[in-house]
Amino acid sequence: MVTKELLNPNLLRAEYAVRGPILQRAQHLEEQGKKIIYCNIGNPQALSQAPLSYVRQMLSLLEYPELLEHPQSLKLYPKDIVERALLVLKHHPHGMGAYTQSSGIPFIRRAVAEFIAKRDGIPANKDHIILTDGASKGVQAAILALLKNRNDGFLIPIPQYPLYSATISLYGGTQIGYFLDEENHWQLNEGILIESITKAIQEGIHPVAIAVINPGNPTGAVLTLENIRMIIGFAKRHGLAIMADEVYQENVYATGCKFHSFAKVMHELDERDVTLFSFHSVSKGFLGECGHRGGYMELRNIRDDVLAQLVKQQSINLCSNVAGQIATYMMVAPPQPGDESFETYAKEREQILRSLKTKAEILGREINKIEGMSVDVPQGAMYAFVKFELPSDAGMDTSSMNAGERRAYETKRETEYCMSLLEETGICVVPGSGFGQPAGTLHFRTTFLPPQDEIEDLVRKLKKFHERYTKAESIVS
Ligand SMILES: Cc1ncc(COP(=O)(O)O)c(C=O)c1O
Repeated sequence: MVTKELLNPNLLRAEYAVRGPILQRAQHLEEQGKKIIYCNIGNPQALSQAPLSYVRQMLSLLEYPELLEHPQSLKLYPKDIVERALLVLKHHPHGMGAYTQSSGIPFIRRAVAEFIAKRDGIPANKDHIILTDGASKGVQAAILALLKNRNDGFLIPIPQYPLYSATISLYGGTQIGYFLDEENHWQLNEGILIESITKAIQEGIHPVAIAVINPGNPTGAVLTLENIRMIIGFAKRHGLAIMADEVYQENVYATGCKFHSFAKVMHELDERDVTLFSFHSVSKGFLGECGHRGGYMELRNIRDDVLAQLVKQQSINLCSNVAGQIATYMMVAPPQPGDESFETYAKEREQILRSLKTKAEILGREINKIEGMSVDVPQGAMYAFVKFELPSDAGMDTSSMNAGERRAYETKRETEYCMSLLEETGICVVPGSGFGQPAGTLHFRTTFLPPQDEIEDLVRKLKKFHERYTKAESIVS
């Protein structure tokens, strides 16, 4: 029988905090009848967000095209959706059950290119687009392709979404963490980037790429135009490829903040040297179609022979799933004014985005009223990365600990705090250590996806819990 010792050590090393022991305990408590508020993962439809009608109408017609011949089809479905389903079948006559080209159905790749061109006012090439099973598979493909040996390093943000650290471990590379600047709305800081890369090079690591998440998970920050320009300049000077994770591009709420794609900024800078991999997904935004596993990777400044290898890499998996490809098509080519389905689409979209904005504001505002807790009110994405303080442990001299010991100690404190929060209140959040952070600070990440009344309840319960927990801790210490 296979034992754990026989498994790939890279797999044993990889960690994925957002589905760790706290979630397992939450599921166990739920089975025992406790009400759990799941704030651990950005899975909108698991938290009562309804799917957009036009996406599901299209998928249902394509899954069962006989419906298109039904005499009542135009009563059941908007005319434009029926017409579009016929159009898809014209371009892809084999339907949902057949493999597609490795990079995805060509007319959907063309629609993605048109979406990028319209979004950014720049040219985009359908042959530089690869449809993927969610953004995760695109990110993993890029890391796998760029990783030649164990010393190859990927700069990743700290705190980060653990897909990055886990994939780098899994494929046997090296992560080079760069701290985001909490004092400056979690933007990237050039001084910190230089410090991180210099230290890595001194340790014999060969940096190959920098990953940037914008808008940020877990920080909820939206990067400024100046910040993105700085990152592109930094990547150029150090010969790095850029991996731009832009899955939250539709999720920008704060007044004055705007999403700027790396593709657009590179085009404006006339940057032709730095290779860009950018990622988008149907899982976030207002679609929230996480289960359909759709997304794309766009490549810029890519040589033909490199592109051919990346396409070959996709062909090893045959192709991405076709329902995900269709969902991606619906994301990039939604109903237009004049279409029968437009009004419903616009209403559903507006309701979801408005509700996310309201919940981000309530969560941020109310958490900042709790003594010993602070958070940057999320500007975008679906998360808040909350900083909290606990009374110091009696007899524990943190000043004599080295950075590793201190982090281990703080990880333990954060985990105990989040586990107690779950046991007492049913609120399921992720300890900050799962995303990384500087020694000397305590954090947890929460989403603001549950319905508004649950968010209001959540902050009330959190306040009560925090007051009780810190009082008990001070008595113990
Ligand atoms: C920053 C970021 N990138 C990628 C993903 C993965 O998304 P997908 O469902 O498209 O694989 C997530 C999911 O939460 C995310 O937060």
